[in-house]
Amino acid sequence: MPYFDIRPKTSRRDLFDRDEELRTLLEGINECRPLILLLGLRRTGKTSLLNVSLNEASVPSIIVDCRVFEEKTSITHSEFLEYFARETSRLLVRHKTLSRILEQVGGIEVSGLKIELKKSRRGEVLFSKILEALNQWAKENNTCIVIGLDEAQELVKLRGIRLLPIIAHAYDYLRNISFIVTGSQIGFIHRFLKLENPESPLYGRISVQVTLKPFTRNQSITYLMEGFREYDMHPPQSILEEVVNQLGGIPGWLTMYGYYAVENKEYNKDLIKRVLETASKIVIREYENFLQTRLIAAKRYTLILKAVAQGYNEWLKIKRYLEVEEGRRISDSIFSQLLRNLVDAGFLEKTSQGYQIPDPILAYAILSYKPKTPWH
Ligand SMILES: Nc1ncnc2c1ncn2[C@@H]1O[C@H](COP(=O)(O)OP(=O)(O)OP(=O)(O)O)[C@@H](O)[C@H]1O
Ligand SMILES: [Mg+2]
Repeated sequence: MPYFDIRPKTSRRDLFDRDEELRTLLEGINECRPLILLLGLRRTGKTSLLNVSLNEASVPSIIVDCRVFEEKTSITHSEFLEYFARETSRLLVRHKTLSRILEQVGGIEVSGLKIELKKSRRGEVLFSKILEALNQWAKENNTCIVIGLDEAQELVKLRGIRLLPIIAHAYDYLRNISFIVTGSQIGFIHRFLKLENPESPLYGRISVQVTLKPFTRNQSITYLMEGFREYDMHPPQSILEEVVNQLGGIPGWLTMYGYYAVENKEYNKDLIKRVLETASKIVIREYENFLQTRLIAAKRYTLILKAVAQGYNEWLKIKRYLEVEEGRRISDSIFSQLLRNLVDAGFLEKTSQGYQIPDPILAYAILSYKPKTPWH
């Protein structure tokens, strides 16, 4: 797979410069650490890193891609369990003996390579029983089963299964299961797992944490150069500088640019523009998903982002901007809460230079954003 393949990477040699992060994650998996956190802004390569490390460790894994629930406002326990059962059944192809153990779990039926759930209103018990069965099998086979919850912040919408006590129980008793929780909305992951709350079942229990940062300027330019070299293309340094000036260091956008450039066999400025346009649509869709459960404040969130995109980066200046636009005062606590939500979702970050939008594509997109949605 070339660097400029836009799908998540699966093998080590396709992954540019993440050796340190890969080593930490791999160590966690090899030791079957109970709870591993893999964080990073959108498109920094979390899914790629997860894929590569699972491939390298070559342990059985069940990945729940929680993005499939992104547009929902709530997730029922049967939706979650059906998805989980479907992913678990993939293991049956290679691990025939797993069927025997799973068959003993009341509430599920294994026919051939398919796991079927009997109608049940007791999602939580069923999920725990499946985990116990998986653990037993892993123990008998002297292995570790990894359960990956990719973009786990979505699971805050899960009804009928309290995930945190289940993960905490697994942490204490199911030694052959390792949970890897990934998330791009870092603050929301922390809130979801209640990591800072001493009353929470998971308090103090993170054993390994890997955070993927965007590429630095140098890394970005080297990544592009090496990616083009795979096609025997050698763009001038000035173009690469321009790409990084406009697209920043998020691996996903650089990869998208490389992909277009290779496809068109050129690297001109129009191509950067094309990436900006396509990527804008993607980030706006994600932003609108965020607004979907926050309709009342939607207009305010957009105004705040517009203010920051225009260079207002201090708390008070952003607040004034919002008040002028709205024509009325806003309480400090409400305003702080709005900022905090944007930071927790990863749309804003607080740096030593004040508030910033970490993804230049979002900054670009929000400036011309005209909501078509009725709630604005
Ligand atoms: N280190 C890397 N080397 C090569 N390509 C990478 C690297 N990191 C990310 N990519 C590419 O960037 C894009 C995004 O990667 P990936 O889907 O793994 O990121 P992610 O953090 O899971 O994104 P999302 O937040 O959308 O789930 C993909 O096209 C992937 O191939
Ligand atoms: Mg991902």
